[in-house]
Amino acid sequence: MAEELAINGGPKTATEGFPSTGNASGRDLGDEEIALVTEVIRSGKMFRYSGTMVEQFEKEYAQFLGIKHVQAVTSGSASLHTAVAALQLNPGDEIITSPVTDMGTYIAIVQSCCIPIFADLDKLTLNMNPKSIEERITDRTRAILVVHLFGQPCRMDEIMEIAHKHDLYVVEDCAQAHGASYDGQPVGTFGDIGCFSLQQSKQITAGDGGMLATNDEEFYARARDFHDKFYDRTGRTEGRIVQRIGINYRMNEVTGAVALAQARKLPSILQRRRESAEHLVSLLEAIEGINPPYMYPKTTGHSWWRFAFTIDEEVLGVDRQTFAEAIGAEGMPFATGYAGGTPMVTTPCIANHVAYGDSEFPWEPPYGRDPQYDVNDYPGALWGQQNIFASGWTEGHTIEHAEIIGKGIRKVADYYRSQK
Ligand SMILES: Cc1ncc(COP(=O)(O)O)c(C=O)c1O
Repeated sequence: MAEELAINGGPKTATEGFPSTGNASGRDLGDEEIALVTEVIRSGKMFRYSGTMVEQFEKEYAQFLGIKHVQAVTSGSASLHTAVAALQLNPGDEIITSPVTDMGTYIAIVQSCCIPIFADLDKLTLNMNPKSIEERITDRTRAILVVHLFGQPCRMDEIMEIAHKHDLYVVEDCAQAHGASYDGQPVGTFGDIGCFSLQQSKQITAGDGGMLATNDEEFYARARDFHDKFYDRTGRTEGRIVQRIGINYRMNEVTGAVALAQARKLPSILQRRRESAEHLVSLLEAIEGINPPYMYPKTTGHSWWRFAFTIDEEVLGVDRQTFAEAIGAEGMPFATGYAGGTPMVTTPCIANHVAYGDSEFPWEPPYGRDPQYDVNDYPGALWGQQNIFASGWTEGHTIEHAEIIGKGIRKVADYYRSQK
């Protein structure tokens, strides 16, 4: 006999909440961060070019990635803006990106006076589909801004091949994917520039913060100068003879101290996330009608920002809405889709081309081709947004948490199958 569901008045599977990246329950913040922050404050050196923490953080994160340069900035959005600025594109140039991501990805493009063009997504991962990227290349395309969603890398071998074939730059948005790897290579090291976020919900955090990574000397120099008002601190020129408009995205030493302590913990944080998430994968694999997170064959390291699965409605004999309500009643922490559950081409500023005053710059002529975005052009993204069940994951999740989640999902799946 199937167990009575909580939604029908039966006992609830999870009697307590799960760890959250929003507070200490799901975070590894403690004495190490406090010690380094204290050192900064006692030194009186809060500015990155007076102290040592930000620079040390950049060095150690570069070592972690196995890359030449890391430039710390104030957020993931700032890292993306700085990266696109470092490409020095022209107004109206097109950048192909994902229709399911954070606004930070689009801000980087539009604040660089470029135009976002969207590729469709692989429906089971919500990662950019290489074939769709290639289909949307025009004579105005200059770059691909890849988004590694939920901590799983995009199919970078295929994407890099397309980029080389069409002579396009590649920027990787790794905001959700610290430590993820594809075919043994860390994300952020495939393209020209990789971008990361240290916002509260990410694998490592300083509340806010970010950085970009590159092996290219020219892009590094441009990023370093752009993020610091294009001031020249290298002694190449005298005084404040400023060659280009930049911005102030400098990371301060207090943030740098927290980021440094967090970066040192990243391998252990990843290990804990993987242990619990992979345990849940093995539990879901054993449930008929449940499809555990889809992994590309070449995904060598998922970094588990979100844990995402789908269901087979026919096998279970239930529609996804009813299933969502039933697992919710069991205390399972899953929501459908990501960030609003629809491709972001419908969000007003993108759909209506609103960025600069009452113009439609840079979308409208003479710069842009006035692209119109139709949500139906993204069937993979739509399907994924409507069908994927996703839960935040943290380093605070344990095997026991995975067991409870597995139990709740099994209970609901078994119940509906038994009612068929
Ligand atoms: C995929 C993606 N890109 C960009 C960002 C922007 O990062 P931040 O919030 O640090 O500006 C985020 C984080 O929110 C993100 O998840």
